[in-house]
Amino acid sequence: MRVRKGAAVQLVVLALIAGALTTGVAVIPHWLPPSAAEQADRIHAVIWYVTIICVAIFAIVVAALAYSIIHFRVAPDDDSDGPPVHGHTGLEALWTAVPFLLVTSMAVFSAIVLARNDRTGSNALHVDVTAQQFAWSFKYPDSNNVASNVLRLPVGRTVRFNLRSLDVLHSFWVPEFSQKQDTVPGLVTHVTITPTKTGVYPIICTELCGLGHPVMRSTVIVMKAAQFDKWLKAQAQATGGGGANAGKAVFANNGCNACHTLQAAGATGKIGPDLDKLPGLAEKAGQPLEQFVRESIVNPDAYIETGFPKGVMPHTFASLPKDQLDALVKYLIDSSKGAK
Ligand code: CUA
Repeated sequence: MRVRKGAAVQLVVLALIAGALTTGVAVIPHWLPPSAAEQADRIHAVIWYVTIICVAIFAIVVAALAYSIIHFRVAPDDDSDGPPVHGHTGLEALWTAVPFLLVTSMAVFSAIVLARNDRTGSNALHVDVTAQQFAWSFKYPDSNNVASNVLRLPVGRTVRFNLRSLDVLHSFWVPEFSQKQDTVPGLVTHVTITPTKTGVYPIICTELCGLGHPVMRSTVIVMKAAQFDKWLKAQAQATGGGGANAGKAVFANNGCNACHTLQAAGATGKIGPDLDKLPGLAEKAGQPLEQFVRESIVNPDAYIETGFPKGVMPHTFASLPKDQLDALVKYLIDSSKGAK
């Protein structure tokens, strides 16, 4: 196949125009969330590798197409058949071999990234994730099972998540971490993340799991390592001792203040019942105070106070470790009795 010099120049110009336009579409809208994890960096590298190949091939195809439309268009009144064209063995071999090599390279690159992203090492921090319609909760099994409904992580350390679901399929996703993992009832699934930037990022459920699916969100706070260690140690001490501070720490870690009022904790939430009034509420429900408080945490829909909707309080607190649940119940009873 001989290509005249003028034709070659035109093809190259057309390819450059098509390539520039497509590159603009690929780069300008910021399709990807900013990366805040090593695993996300690797996934983004695969995406860009594939994108660059796609842009190049698209530009070549568009250039050939545009050139043919411009130069080989038949006259409007020409009804004759086109000339018979035989295959070109060399060209056919080329356009089979090149895509084969490119697709194979994508597969190999992806396999390497998948394997690397699953590598956890021996110094990983373990975090248990519990998903339930429609809330997330987190526990630190190596630190007294400290429980929290906001996820805190240290920057620069690999974290191994063990994910469980108490009801249906959910999916754990932090866009800035890229890795995504389903939670499956009856199974423990895993995902590994190494945060690279401090900051606050959303945790999103990405598996349609029921009416509350769009609001099944939480927050991850990536902290400096020393700050995180200090926080975790303080929580482990507070919740582990079973002392007066244990219940208060459990209350704070699980975000009870977001919805409830409790003077002793400085909480002023108005979404759920006022916890300073627990003795009165228990009487109204006709239950002993301790039983009432415990059941309201573990199975919040068992008794609904008038004026408050059912199904708003998450059921995830049923998975609180027993010592933390005991401490919380004791704290709520003591605080509400002391409130005036
Ligand atoms: Cu849980 Cu969607």
